[in-house]
Parts: sequence; C-alpha cells; structure tokens
Amino acid sequence: MRHNRIGFKMGIVIITLFLIVLVFLGFAIDRMFTNFYSAEMQKETEELTSHFTVMANATETTSEQTMKTFAEFSNVSIINILKNGKVILHSGTHDSADNAFIRTSDLQKIFSGEKVSLLYKDPSGNGYFVSGQPISDNGKITSALYVMSSTEQMERSLSGVRNLLLLSGIGAFLLAMGITWIIAMVLSRPLLQMEKATRKIAIGELEIRLDIKSKDEIGSLADAINDLAMDLQRYRDTRQELFSNISHELRTPITYLEGYSKVVKDHLYETEDEKERYLDIIYEEALRLQHLVDDLFDLAKMEEGKISLVFERLDLSDLVEHAVRKVELKAKEKNLRLSLDISGKAALVHADGKRMEQIILNLLENAIRYTEHGSIDVHVMYASTKVTLVVEDTGIGIPEEELPYIFERFYRVEKSRSRQFGGTGLGLSIVKMLIELQGGTIKVTSRLKEGTRFEIYFVLHPEMEEGRV
Ligand SMILES: Nc1ncnc2c1ncn2[C@@H]1O[C@H](COP(=O)(O)OP(=O)(O)OP(=O)(O)O)[C@@H](O)[C@H]1O
Ligand SMILES: [Mg+2]
Repeated sequence: MRHNRIGFKMGIVIITLFLIVLVFLGFAIDRMFTNFYSAEMQKETEELTSHFTVMANATETTSEQTMKTFAEFSNVSIINILKNGKVILHSGTHDSADNAFIRTSDLQKIFSGEKVSLLYKDPSGNGYFVSGQPISDNGKITSALYVMSSTEQMERSLSGVRNLLLLSGIGAFLLAMGITWIIAMVLSRPLLQMEKATRKIAIGELEIRLDIKSKDEIGSLADAINDLAMDLQRYRDTRQELFSNISHELRTPITYLEGYSKVVKDHLYETEDEKERYLDIIYEEALRLQHLVDDLFDLAKMEEGKISLVFERLDLSDLVEHAVRKVELKAKEKNLRLSLDISGKAALVHADGKRMEQIILNLLENAIRYTEHGSIDVHVMYASTKVTLVVEDTGIGIPEEELPYIFERFYRVEKSRSRQFGGTGLGLSIVKMLIELQGGTIKVTSRLKEGTRFEIYFVLHPEMEEGRV
C-alpha cells in the first residue's frame, strides 16, 4: 500500500534522477581536477628539467653539486646518463636500481635533440612524472637528464578534493531526500484526503466536505468533489421530499375513493341523489389521480432528459386561439370574461406544438382556477426578434414572498386552500421545464387579491419570419 503511494513513487523517481546527475557530475569534476593537476605537474617537471639542463652546462665541477642540492631542494630525483646507458649522476629518493622508465627509443629521441615526457609507476606503486631532456656541450649532446617528480603530493590533494566532493554529494543527497519527502507528503496528503472523502460519499455520507484551499489542480479537484457531494446531497434530499410529496398526494384521492366507494358499496346512503353525489366525487378523484400520474410521468421523463420534443415551425397565435377556445366553457361557468389579442407582425417559432399547447392550457387553467370574478386576458405580441405571450387574470394573486417558489414541484400557495381548487402543484414546474427545453423563458408578476400576470418569451429566428396569413 505504502509503496503504491504517488508520493513514494515520485520520491523514487526524483531521487534516482538526482543520484544519476550527482554521480555524473562528481565523476566529471574529479576528471577535470585530475587532468588539470596532471597537466600542471607535467609542465612543472618539464620546466624544472630545462633548468637542470641549463645548470649542467655550467662549469663541470660545481654543476654536479649544485644540481644535487637543487634536486633535493625541489624534492625531485634526477638521473644523468650517457648514450650507452651508463648513469653518471643520480640523486633523490628514487631507487637508482630501478630504471625501467628509461627506454632506448626515448634515449634515441633525447640524443637527437628532442624532449620526452611520461608517467611512471615504480614496482612499489609510487607514481612519477618523468621528463627527459638532452644536455649539450658546445652544441653537442653529451648526456640525457631525467627528472622524476613524485605524484604523491598531487594524489594527496586530489584525494582531499574527492573527499570534499563525496561529502558535499552525500549532503546534497540527504537534503534532496528530505525535500522530496516533504514535497511527496504535501502532494499526497490531499490526495489521500480526497480518496477517503470519495469513499465516504460512495457509502452515502454526503455531509462530508473537503477543506483543501490550494488554488492549483488539486484545489479544483477538491472543489469538484465538494460540489459533487453537495449535488448528491441536494438530489437525495429532493428525492426524499419528492417521494413524500407523491405519497401524500396519492394518499388523499385514494382515501376519498376508498371511503366513498365503501359508502356506495354498503348502501350507506339515504337517497339516490346522495349516491349520485358520492359517485361524482369518486369520478373526480379518479380524474385527479389520472392527472397526477400523467404529470409525474412527464416530470420524470423531463428530469431524465428522456422527453422527446418534436420541433416544427409553428404559428403561436393559432395555438393560443385554439387553447382559448378549449377553456372558454370553463371560464363561462365561472362568469369570467376571456379575451385574446394578437399584435405585431406574425412570425413562426421553432417549437413542439403539443407541448406548446400544454403550456398555454396550463396557464389558462390556472388563471381560471384562481380567479373568482373579473377577466382573463391573453396577448400574443410579436416584435422583431421575439414573441411574447401574456396570460393575465384578476384573480386571488400570489403573495410576493411565495413567487420564487411557485415553479417548484408540488409547491402550492396556502396548501389547504389550494386543494379545494383541485391542484397538485405540478403544473407550473412542468410549464417551466417545457419552456426552457424549447429555449424560452417565463416570468411572473402578481399582486395579492388583484391578479397575476405570466409572460413567456420565445426568440424568433430571422429565417423564420413570415407574413401572417
Ligand atoms: N394565476 C394564478 N393566480 C393565483 N395563484 C396561482 C396562479 N397560478 C398558479 N398559482 C399558485 O401557484 C401554485 C402552483 O401552480 P401549479 O400550476 O404548479 O399547481 P396547481 O395549479 O396547484 O396544480 P396543477 O397545475 O398541478 O393541477 C398554485 O397552487 C397556486 O397557489
Ligand atoms: Mg396549475
């Protein structure tokens, strides 16, 4: 489990990369120092050798002693040999018996006037920079001079540098480990928190919220999880509310049906008139149930996005005229005046005819249902880019504080009184959804006891404009 953590994996990758860089860098620095030192030492040895050859040219007797002193002083070994290989001078710490570094090919070169340089390791493992140069007397090469400078001093310095490199490498590595560990922790902690939170959401603990404030991708992921939990919570709550509303709405008509049918079945009525009245109630409640089931079905389909709208080019005023004619009788029964007025240059809208009629009928039925006296006025107003449909009544009105809620499912103003009007509170929520699905908007204004005005807007597309026939 721990090995699968993103922080751990990232740490391993970073540390590996760091190690590779560190090793290469250390190696390169080491090489650089070694090469630089060797070249310097070699050059120094050659220069020293040149000094010795000049010294050897001085008066024969003093030069030997001076050279020995100088060699001792410079901490080098010198060997002076003749062309036949005979050593005529040797001084310094180097073992005079060991002369493996003197090669005949080198001697030939020196006696022909060239200089030689080489690196030599004696049998006991000591390293030397060796420089061989000719000594000449009056322009004639008389002998060869080898100067051997020990590499010990250089190796000591180099090993100091290497130790320093190693130490700083280990320090940098530890520092990188620490920083990587901290970064890994910082990165993986919120991820682990999110994992825990989503698991809790999965088992239904929807109250959980993440407190991750960073403004990066992790922060926005946490925000998305919070939003998800909030949406799910809202969804669950409204689901519960919906179910309790549905069962409540179903229970009332069913109780009526049960009660009155029992009365009729058991002949508990006194007159035939009374029986007729009970049967009327049964019929009305059955209708109400039918209405409720239809509405619920529509809502469910719309919420799942499964409702299929058949879009066509429609003349809204025809539809409105038709709907007004349908509710005329109902209005007459309540002694309400019903008027229709169409203004502006007619144009077609892109909408579903059946659903459009459902919307208009719903608004008209509400207007008739919630108006006791006065009138219901319907206007269709065409403008250049939109068409407005207004359904206005002089009814009981809706209190201002309740206006924002009337489009919610099952919402009724003054619940007990509304039932007497026969509504379930689903009509307007269906109306709003249908309007929005067809790209329109709905607005309501109302004054208590004065009346209510619903306005619907649909955009007219330029290519749909057409003269009214
Ligand atoms: N024209 C109106 N005048 C006064 N109040 C209204 C009007 N239209 C709607 N309302 C109020 O808004 C509530 C919600 O209306 P909606 O059409 O959604 O439900 P309903 O008419 O009660 O039932 P349904 O339409 O589902 O049979 C109504 O219960 C009513 O209180
Ligand atoms: Mg209604």
